[in-house]
Amino acid sequence: MSRFVRIAGWGKCLPSQILSNYDLEKMVETSDEWIRTRSGISERRIVSEEESTSTIATAAAQEAMERAGILPSDLDLIVLATLSPDYPCLPATASLVQHALGAPNCGAFDLVAGCSGFVYGLVTGSQFVQSGACRNVLVIGAEAMSRLLDWKDRATCVLFGDAAGAVVLSATDQEGGLLSFVLGSDGGGAQHLVIPAGGSRTPATHETVEHGLHYLKMNGREVFKFASRILPRALNETLEKAGVKAEEVDLLIPHQANIRIINSARESLEIPEEAVYVNVDRYGNTSAASIPVALCEAIDEGKIRPGSLLAMVAFGAGLTWGSALWRWQG
Ligand code: ACO
Repeated sequence: MSRFVRIAGWGKCLPSQILSNYDLEKMVETSDEWIRTRSGISERRIVSEEESTSTIATAAAQEAMERAGILPSDLDLIVLATLSPDYPCLPATASLVQHALGAPNCGAFDLVAGCSGFVYGLVTGSQFVQSGACRNVLVIGAEAMSRLLDWKDRATCVLFGDAAGAVVLSATDQEGGLLSFVLGSDGGGAQHLVIPAGGSRTPATHETVEHGLHYLKMNGREVFKFASRILPRALNETLEKAGVKAEEVDLLIPHQANIRIINSARESLEIPEEAVYVNVDRYGNTSAASIPVALCEAIDEGKIRPGSLLAMVAFGAGLTWGSALWRWQG
């Protein structure tokens, strides 16, 4: 029996609070012009006091399940990609979402692969469906990045935003779904994107908090160089594995971190501008949420139709990268 995986439902949650570059000008020494020209970002969304990663993840998941026409009792597994969990180590945010959804029969775990998390989750969830082990898997990318940022550090606080996106993966006999993928990691670059304290290596103390070591630290130049090198490589390998040429891709959904990184990947692969989805201007870098949110918007805007060939590619903390080629069944 052939068994394929399809995206049966999709949903997103964008917090209503908007923080513009002009708002940031009042908080740190920066300018709308600097942020736009260096990153392509104009504004981002920020969670309210009542919200957290699990609440926006749950909202995105509910929308995806409604679209898929499934009940919480139909879910076999929840995979939640995040680097901003509700609690630092335990319990898993996926378990909080499982409870909030009222899903009685499913496993749930968090997946940590930085901004590559959703692609890792999509590939992982697809294996459970394709093997016949699960009928319906919920894959979520959700982040409350604003809770990890030092709002006095202009090198990081202007770049990120909060959001959640989710898909329901279901078994189908209809050909398509995941065609090929590449997942990669280079822990040699771990220190380029890190929250130094609060884990088992450097537990939280008064001193670590005083020195702001519980905030996200980034070596932006190194991450930029890594991303510009890895995106075209990962994408090319994924296309090769499926025997597909770059010009056959109908829509490329890259991780939305920086418009300059997106443009350099697009140019090196010679993919036309109109075949690349971009929303980094409106949401900033929402880490693991960026690809599923972009996917939802692209579907709703009619950019993805039955038979469309989608390429997704991401890079992030770890350092990690992930790329997936997907034939949309509709
Ligand atoms: N406003 C004004 N000036 C600033 C700001 C700011 N917000 N931030 C930094 N600067 C200054 C710097 O201090 C520096 O000044 P100096 O030359 O006097 O030292 C100058 O601007 C240039 O800084 P650069 O770091 O060289 O700027 P660059 O052009 O490299 O852009 C950026 C910086 C946007 C961070 C870029 O390096 C980048 O996008 N890197 C990738 C980051 C990324 O994608 N991270 C997400 C990874 S995914 C995950 O898993 C979380």
